[in-house]
Amino acid sequence: MESVWKKTAEIPSREKLKENIHTKAVVIGAGMTGILTAYMLQEQGVETVVLEAGRIAGGQTCNTTAKITSQHNLIYAYLMEKFGEEKAAMYAHANQQAIEDYARIIEKEKIACDFQRKPAYLYSREKERIEELENEAKWATLLGIPAEFVTETELPFPVAGAVRFANQGQFHPLKFIGKIAEKLTIYEESRVVRLKDNCAFTEHGMAEGEHVIFAVHYPWQIVPGYYFLRMHQERSYVIALDISEWEKIDGMYLGIEPEGYSFRTMEKDGKRILLLGGGSHRTGENTSGERYELLRKKAEEWFPKSREIAHWSAQDCMPMDKIPYIGYFSSEIPNWYVATGFGKWGMTSAMAAASVIRDMVLGKEHEDEKVYAPQRFPVSALSKNFTENTIQAVKGLTKQAVSAQEFPGKCTHMGCKLEKNADEGTWECPCHGSCFTNEGELLHGPAQYGFELLQKD
Ligand code: FES
Repeated sequence: MESVWKKTAEIPSREKLKENIHTKAVVIGAGMTGILTAYMLQEQGVETVVLEAGRIAGGQTCNTTAKITSQHNLIYAYLMEKFGEEKAAMYAHANQQAIEDYARIIEKEKIACDFQRKPAYLYSREKERIEELENEAKWATLLGIPAEFVTETELPFPVAGAVRFANQGQFHPLKFIGKIAEKLTIYEESRVVRLKDNCAFTEHGMAEGEHVIFAVHYPWQIVPGYYFLRMHQERSYVIALDISEWEKIDGMYLGIEPEGYSFRTMEKDGKRILLLGGGSHRTGENTSGERYELLRKKAEEWFPKSREIAHWSAQDCMPMDKIPYIGYFSSEIPNWYVATGFGKWGMTSAMAAASVIRDMVLGKEHEDEKVYAPQRFPVSALSKNFTENTIQAVKGLTKQAVSAQEFPGKCTHMGCKLEKNADEGTWECPCHGSCFTNEGELLHGPAQYGFELLQKD
C-alpha cells in the first residue's frame, strides 16, 4: 500500500557498500533524520557517509503526513507542568527553528518540494476540553509561538474550539529528501550487521568514522542505551482523497481526542487531495482491523463526493515522557549519537535532531540540547511507561511460550509472539513494534532480520 508520496516521486537508487572506508562521520539510516544530519554535517565541512539497510526514505519517511509544525498535540501545557519553563522553551524553540531551517534549506538548494506555509490547528468537538485548548494557546504564546484560541475552522463539522499556530509548514517529503540526497554519499541495501568500536560492518564492506550516528527510527542496539525499554510503537492510518469539490480546507488539523482525526491537503495533477488520518493503536493490537474502513466511513460522511486515490499506514516510536531522545547514545560510549522517539512529529523532530547532533559532533553546545538528552532518565528512575512497556514485553514472551506452535513465527528481536494486523496483512510484535510480511520478511525494526518459521511437530 503505497503512500501518495511514493506514487508521485522517485529517488534514484545507490550502490551497496562493497569496500572498507574511513570517514569523519557515519550516519546509519537514510530517512529524513539521517539525510538531514548528513547534510548539516557536510555543510560544516564534516565528511559524512550514510549507510541505509533498504532504500533512501524507504522507512517511515515515505509514510508521514509531512506536516512541519511545532504543534505537537497538547505538548506545551504538559511540558510547563512536568519540566518547567526552561525546558518547555527549548522544545518550542527547537521546533519553531526546525520550520525555519526547512525554509532555509529549500531556499538555498532551490528545492521544488511543494513547501507551503500553513496554519496548524488542534481542535476538539467537546465543550469540556475548551479549557485545555485555551491553556495550550496561552502556554504556546508565552513560549514564543504565534498561537491563539479560535472557535471557527474550515472543517466539515462544528468544533468546540481550536488552537491555531500561524506560519507552520507542509511539503512533499520525498521531493525534498531526493534533492538534498544528491549532495551526499549514501550506500543503499547496506544493512549494518555489527558495530565494533566505531566500525559499522555491512555484509560486503565496513565504514569507520570518528562519529557514529544512529538515525534508524528504532535503535536495535540493546546494550547500552536500553532504548527498547524507553518507548513503544504505534501505527496509524491515512487515506488520500480527491476532494476537488471541497475547497474549504487549507490548514493542517489534528483532533485532541484519542479518536481525533488528522487533516491536511496537497495538490496533485491540478487536483485537491486531502490526507485524512486516524485509527491509531499500539503496534500489534489490530487483530480485528477495520481501521481503513473507519476512515472511509468518515470520508463518506464529511466528503460524500470524494474519491480515494491511496491509503497507507505509518509507524511511530512513542517515548516515555513525550520528548524524543536526541544526543549521546550512551554515557558509556563517546562519539555515538542517537535520534529516536519522535512520537507522531517526525518532520520537525528530524530537523531538530540534525541540528543538535551537528553541534555535538562539532564540539559545540546546542542551545536546546538539554531537553532532548537521552540520559535524562537514570535506568533506576524509569517510571510508569517503562512498567507498561515491560508488561507488554513479558505478555508477548509469555504468549509465545504457551502457544507458539499455533503461530507462523516469533519476533527475531527478542522472541515475542507476533500478532496479525488485519488491515495490513502483516505480522506485528506487541513488545517493541517490529513488523514482518506474511512471508516473514522484515518491514520495520527494532528486529534486524526476518522471522524464523517455527518447527511444527
Ligand atoms: Fe522486540 Fe519483537 S520487537 S521482541
